[in-house]
Amino acid sequence: MDNRLFFPATQRNRDCIGDVLSRNIKKNCSILEIGSGSGEHGVFFQKLFPEIIWQTSDPDLLNRKSIISWIEYEELSRKMPPPLDLDVEKVPWHLPTQLVNSLQGIVSINMIHVAKWNCTIELFKGAGKLLKEGQFLILYGPFKIGNKHISKSNYCFDNSIRAKNDLWGIRNIEEVSEEAKKNSFCQKNIIRMPANNFSIIYKKVSC
Ligand SMILES: C[S@@+](CC[C@H](N)C(=O)[O-])C[C@H]1O[C@@H](n2cnc3c(N)ncnc32)[C@H](O)[C@@H]1O
Repeated sequence: MDNRLFFPATQRNRDCIGDVLSRNIKKNCSILEIGSGSGEHGVFFQKLFPEIIWQTSDPDLLNRKSIISWIEYEELSRKMPPPLDLDVEKVPWHLPTQLVNSLQGIVSINMIHVAKWNCTIELFKGAGKLLKEGQFLILYGPFKIGNKHISKSNYCFDNSIRAKNDLWGIRNIEEVSEEAKKNSFCQKNIIRMPANNFSIIYKKVSC
């Protein structure tokens, strides 16, 4: 059965996110994607980086079904593992040993503003336990700087997501990076991306 979902933003942002990833991903490793959604990013990045294994995950069953369908549709079943049922708040995270041993980094795209603040806290706690020195956590999405929106459209978007769920909202970069610091990550780079988004690259440092 074809359970593919289509998230239009993925078509618009996948190339520029791919550019950021290409500057950070090494060969022969695995990347864990958290909150993979439809799976469109997952199959795109798996094809872009054939030397690695892209491990998708999502807590939502419909999204995981979509990811499975996208993997089948793109004929990547022999390369890509099926998505993991991973909710950052359900700790400890249960991950396959093979993934843990080959992991080079974690990527989470457009997740933390449509989840409770506690998800950001648990994302960094979980990543901090899992990743070793030099490995990365990359976040992509809209952020506030100095608690201020960087555009009118981000302000309107923030209001619209808060109207759906008052625990959601565009996060402040400084507060996110504070959580990073608590879990031994340093903020390596902030890259301004199209459509008022950012990529933030955190690197694990020694504790
Ligand atoms: C706006 S969608 C983004 C999906 C995809 N990354 C993209 O860019 O199209 C947010 C995603 O975060 C996931 N998510 C929400 N809460 C989560 C949690 N507690 N742990 C992990 N993922 C979560 C949702 O299931 C959803 O797939």
